[in-house]
Parts: sequence; C-alpha cells; structure tokens
Amino acid sequence: MHDLNDDIAKILISAEQLTRRIGELGQQITADYRGKEPVLVGVLKGAVVFMVDLARTIDLPVELDFMAVSSYGASTQSTGVVRILKDLDRSISGRDVLVVEDIVDSGLTLRYIVENLRDRQPASLRICALLRKQKVRAPGPSIDYVGFDIPDEFVVGYGLDYAEQYRNLPYLGVLRPELYRGDQV
Ligand code: IMP
Ligand code: MG
Repeated sequence: MHDLNDDIAKILISAEQLTRRIGELGQQITADYRGKEPVLVGVLKGAVVFMVDLARTIDLPVELDFMAVSSYGASTQSTGVVRILKDLDRSISGRDVLVVEDIVDSGLTLRYIVENLRDRQPASLRICALLRKQKVRAPGPSIDYVGFDIPDEFVVGYGLDYAEQYRNLPYLGVLRPELYRGDQV
C-alpha cells in the first residue's frame, strides 16, 4: 500500500495549527459580517476542504456556492487567462460575497475570478485565502483574510494536490523534491 505520508518531506502546517487558525478566521468573519448572510464562493477543487471547515466556524447563516476554473493552454505557469468550467448555481447580485481560495501563488487566477464576480454586482466582495505564497505581492488583488503566509515551496494536502493526489492529507506538507517535477501546478 502506498502511504501518502511517506511522500512528504516535511509538515509545514499541522492539522492542529489549521484548526486553530481557521477558528480565528471564522470568528473574525462572524464579527465582520454580523447581521448579514454572506455567500461563500469556493473555487474547486483545492478550496473544498478549507471551505467546509471554515463554514462550520462561522456563526451566521451562510450559503455555499462553487466555481470551477481552469487556466487556458498548456502552460504550467498561470497566465491569468481562465476558463469557467462550472459557474455559480445562483445569482450573487446584491449579495455579500466571500471568495474562498486555497492558495494564492501568482494571484492571476484570483484576479480573473474577482473581476468576473464584480461584474455581477454583489453588494460586497472580499477574499479569504488559506495560504499566500510570500512572492505574491504586486499584481494580485488584495486579500482580506489570510490563513498563513508561506514560503515559495510546492505544498500539498488539506485540499491541495499534486497531479490530483494528496488532497485528503489532513495537514499541509512539502512534497519530497524527487517526486515533484515542477510542472504540475
Ligand atoms: P495562481 O493563479 O498562480 O495564483 O495559481 C493558483 C492556483 O495554483 C491554486 O488555486 C492552486 O490550484 C495552484 N497552486 C499554486 N501553488 C500551489 C502549491 O504549492 N500546491 C498546490 N497547488 C498550487
Ligand atoms: Mg491544482
């Protein structure tokens, strides 16, 4: 049997650390959206694990909706040109929308999503990202809620994949370099 844990060079953020920090984010979001009924928009598939845990720490009526996007072309680097594979089920016009992302790397994917959602006239639009890679600065949209700032390493687990694997690890880890060809973001 292939033990996924054996492929991890080091644990970057443990399950306990994730739980604690997500609880803090949930408290902050609960306070900031008091009296409102926000729509959490998760970006499939990486954000799913974070989204369901975050939603359960928010003490407000929330709706959950999902979008799936894919970068155009064969390029391994994000180009910012994005195709919508699955759109939201419901209108967000007049709603308080909180986009939930797993990780912001270049920020290009997120920038496209935010611009696309803004065109639908939500009452407000904010972003919550579990992870932000430290190189992300200049062009990306500003992120309202950040779980952790992490170094520029390829991480897997807790929803994040390498070639669709490792999403179900309960912690965030760095893949052993010999398993990672650097071409599968
Ligand atoms: P961006 O457009 O460069 O910000 O790309 C963001 C997307 O790339 C994320 O939603 C992830 O799907 C993927 N990604 C970026 N960095 C990592 C990583 O370290 N591990 C797994 N997926 C990543
Ligand atoms: Mg991916």
